[in-house]
Amino acid sequence: MTQIRSKIAGMGFYVPENVVTNDDLAKVMDTNDAWIRERTGIEERRYVTRFKDTPATMGTEAAKIAMERAGVTTEDIDFVIFATLSPDYYFPGGGVLVQRELGLGHCGALDVRNQCSGFIYGLSVADQFIRTGTYKNILLIGAESHSAGLDFTTRGRNVSVIFGDGAGAVVIQPTEEDGKGLLASNLHADGKYAEKLAFINPGSHSGVFTDKKDIFPTVEEDPWASLMITPKMVEEGDHYPNMDGPFVFKNAVRRFPETIMESLGKAGLTVKDLDMLIPHQANLRIAQFVQGMLELNDDQVYNNIQKYGNTTAASIPIALCEAWEKGLIKEGDLVCLAAFGSGFTWASALIRW
Ligand code: ACO
Repeated sequence: MTQIRSKIAGMGFYVPENVVTNDDLAKVMDTNDAWIRERTGIEERRYVTRFKDTPATMGTEAAKIAMERAGVTTEDIDFVIFATLSPDYYFPGGGVLVQRELGLGHCGALDVRNQCSGFIYGLSVADQFIRTGTYKNILLIGAESHSAGLDFTTRGRNVSVIFGDGAGAVVIQPTEEDGKGLLASNLHADGKYAEKLAFINPGSHSGVFTDKKDIFPTVEEDPWASLMITPKMVEEGDHYPNMDGPFVFKNAVRRFPETIMESLGKAGLTVKDLDMLIPHQANLRIAQFVQGMLELNDDQVYNNIQKYGNTTAASIPIALCEAWEKGLIKEGDLVCLAAFGSGFTWASALIRW
């Protein structure tokens, strides 16, 4: 019996026009080009323009390109999966906004909240619908607007220099071509380290998980815990993301190879079979470390963090699409997508192109 697998039928990406160099950041905080390049590999990133770009609008633009390349129209799309950590609204999620912007009719729209691993989590969810025959054309989008919530003072420099904005999208369809499509994937999480890389405030956590209680009103002052954001929180910069960079780095270089080897093992393949690794663009040094551990050549790993920074859920579809546009991914190639990030979550997917 022929096996139905998921294939990527079309891809597209969109990055905002606003280029921000390391020197631009050095004008507003105590940092410098050499530090950022040496520690992260990043040379520049893109930031949204107000009243123009949002995760949903950027996702929509990327989706239009992906649909055109897949040869489908909005009428063909029967499900949307939207991955982001920087949604336009706290609720509803960005999936419905993309659905509205594209005029997609009444298909379902699912939001995925798995940060850097969001695209691969979304791919795995899409794969279940494809393999069961539920849907024939799924639009999977990863989009981020980090610049909307970064601390551009010296206090936030360890986080803010890393991130960039953008979106990538793919159309996923079933294929019965022998040996082609998504061969294996795996999804992992360890919530023990949720706060090691997190955007905590404002949130509905009522101060339960944090020792820093003094940024909230007392129970007597606010008995129903109705205040999500307080002046003290803003004064102390507790409404920005925080990251224990070295801790995240150590975990990332351990989990990346693990998840890649797990997918290869599931598919009965080895690192030697790999034509292209598209790692989540967290930090060039992490990608280089992983490349070294797996003994991959430079032409087996694609990186573009130098130009776009870390675009979290968008980084894999942007890198995948760019590598494909450059002719670096060809018919029959074995491509591995791999991610590690906030949650912690980590995941990989192996695709025979
Ligand atoms: N410019 C200049 N100096 C800086 C900057 C900056 N932008 N940021 C921090 N520093 C300083 C620190 O203050 C510190 O100074 P000190 O020694 O005087 O105290 C020094 O540089 C070293 O700081 P570290 O945080 O130890 O720097 P590190 O070498 O670890 O690099 C980095 C930081 C780049 C963030 C690294 O830890 C990293 O990439 N970690 C992983 C990030 C990641 O993968 N995130 C996951 C994906 S994102 C997601 O899931 C949402």
